[in-house]
Amino acid sequence: MRRCEMVKEKKEKFKNTGKVAVYPGSFDPITYGHIDVVERALEIFDKVIVAIAENEEKRPLFSVEERLQMVRTIFKDTPNVIVDSFKGLLVDYVAKTNAKVSLRGLRATSDFEYEFHMASMNRSLSTQLDTLFMMTSKDYFFVSSRTIKEVARLGGGVEGLVPDLVVRRLREKFKLPVTKRKRIGWDD
Ligand code: PNS
Repeated sequence: MRRCEMVKEKKEKFKNTGKVAVYPGSFDPITYGHIDVVERALEIFDKVIVAIAENEEKRPLFSVEERLQMVRTIFKDTPNVIVDSFKGLLVDYVAKTNAKVSLRGLRATSDFEYEFHMASMNRSLSTQLDTLFMMTSKDYFFVSSRTIKEVARLGGGVEGLVPDLVVRRLREKFKLPVTKRKRIGWDD
């Protein structure tokens, strides 16, 4: 598909879609904590755009194409979720959609300072954008993409914290055996 057709298609997707929230992040990789936020946001918004940031400075484990593929597969049966990627400023990306809200998950007070700075900076860049925080559910408040990668790299089990597809992709990335490694003391 040609680029101008892709842009047209994207604009169509974002048109007349009711209340829309953009959920931006690195999603490197997506976890059940992120998925929980999306699912709960769908109770409030008509559409959620999961917007994967293309930020090579963060040296992601998964390329943006790999992350798009994983997240699209995970939400393939959820038509109200659009999975997209963006480069540059979030406020510029959001301006191309009909969203007015950027959605972020808050796990603990330690997240607050970073999130507060980011929300304040975004607000100073654009008064058209508000940031809405959702508390991550208690089952996932300790789950972060960073710790998932560390545990997986060292051969620990991350089943139940990320979808099976992500478990498989992590194993492939870290060239770990395919055999399922259970978390110690956990029954399936
Ligand atoms: O999952 P992350 O890494 O915490 O997500 C951070 C993200 C991608 C939301 C943030 O870095 C971002 O919005 N990047 C786009 C660049 C931008 O707009 N920066 C100004 C806000 S401080």
